[in-house]
Amino acid sequence: MKKILLAGGMGYIGSHTVIEVINAGYEPIIVDNLSNSKIEVLDSIEKITGTRPLFYEVDVCNMKDLEKVFEENRDIEVVIHFAGFKAVGESVLEPLKYYENNLISTFNLLEVMQKYHCNKFIFSSSATVYAVSKVMPLCENFPLGASNPYGRTKLFNEQILEDYQKANPSFNVILLRYFNPIGAHESGLIGEDPNGIPNNLMPYICQVATGKLDHLNVFGNDYDTKDGTGVRDYIHVVDLAIGHVKALDKLVREENVGLKVYNLGTGTGYSVLDIVNTFNKVNGNLVNYQIAKRRPGDIATCYASSQKAYDELGFKATKTLEEMCKSSYEFQKRKEA
Ligand code: NAD
Ligand code: UD1
Repeated sequence: MKKILLAGGMGYIGSHTVIEVINAGYEPIIVDNLSNSKIEVLDSIEKITGTRPLFYEVDVCNMKDLEKVFEENRDIEVVIHFAGFKAVGESVLEPLKYYENNLISTFNLLEVMQKYHCNKFIFSSSATVYAVSKVMPLCENFPLGASNPYGRTKLFNEQILEDYQKANPSFNVILLRYFNPIGAHESGLIGEDPNGIPNNLMPYICQVATGKLDHLNVFGNDYDTKDGTGVRDYIHVVDLAIGHVKALDKLVREENVGLKVYNLGTGTGYSVLDIVNTFNKVNGNLVNYQIAKRRPGDIATCYASSQKAYDELGFKATKTLEEMCKSSYEFQKRKEA
């Protein structure tokens, strides 16, 4: 079985990817410092798959500890790099924390991979790297630009990887630009578990539904969209995880991948009110909302072209918005029980 190292593999997207990596017949090795995840995730992965993955509680920014992982596992075939901080607001207040963690983690992984002759890499990028565009859907070759420190760490990482790949043509890297992952594994055992009051839409809705929060503030209903509320490309996290396996398969199968970039989205945009209405339809009428002011920095519409991922990876998201809303709530209920 080919060994796949997942840096940040205990987190929301990483843990779902570990499951799909196991389902696809690969052997995952998880490296995570648990800065934004809990050790119990390992038990959940074991319950779901029947396999307990090898886990190292290691900070990827600590080169000595990271090297030990490669020393003990000399035959790692592919590295998937999820390890990073991701809260946009926090990145504005503490930019150095973001630049340090999100960039040094990549430098260390590249350095140690070179030393141990591992030359296949998948990077967690984001739709946030696209410059504001009036044209939708966003295609991979559209202009790039970031508007906050978090987004810049993603953009810098992409550029660093591009330069590195040019200088090392035998290095193969796939940049995956995620749109808005929501939902949870159908078991309800793993899902998104943010600290404090959530910033993102679905975790906020889930906490309104359980009564932890009073109501949802819909940030603006005067955008140029079908109902005036913001439109995004929500993708089920299990679909997203399967997208990683497709990228993994390509790296394992093909010799000279070079650098490739793919959007991972559904290609469909839903408004905030679409999400609220669907959530209420599948889970009972649990979410009240009020229209509030626009959130600074938000844009009206953002959704992916999913064509390139389909053509070159054979990836197509299949899960419905109903499944996304149902599984998100199931996880939230279980967590609070
Ligand atoms: P997450 O916070 O749930 O997972 C990240 C994991 O990395 C956590 O388990 C955390 O403990 C770990 N980690 C952080 N820094 C580390 C370090 N230095 N060493 C070891 N482990 C470390 O986040 P997520 O939602 O699963 O996102 C995963 C990746 O995808 C991130 O890079 C994020 O920026 C990117 N991304 C996420 C979204 C999203 O909406 N969730 C969208 C686009 C891109
Ligand atoms: C956020 C991140 C972005 C990241 C993306 C991927 C911010 C500012 N941006 O984008 O960097 O790549 O997630 O997941 O955090 N909304 C409400 N009320 C709420 C919360 C959100 O109305 O309480 C609306 C927003 O205005 C937006 C939509 O819901 O229209 C989605 O918001 P959110 O889940 O925060 O995602 P993005 O803003 O798309």
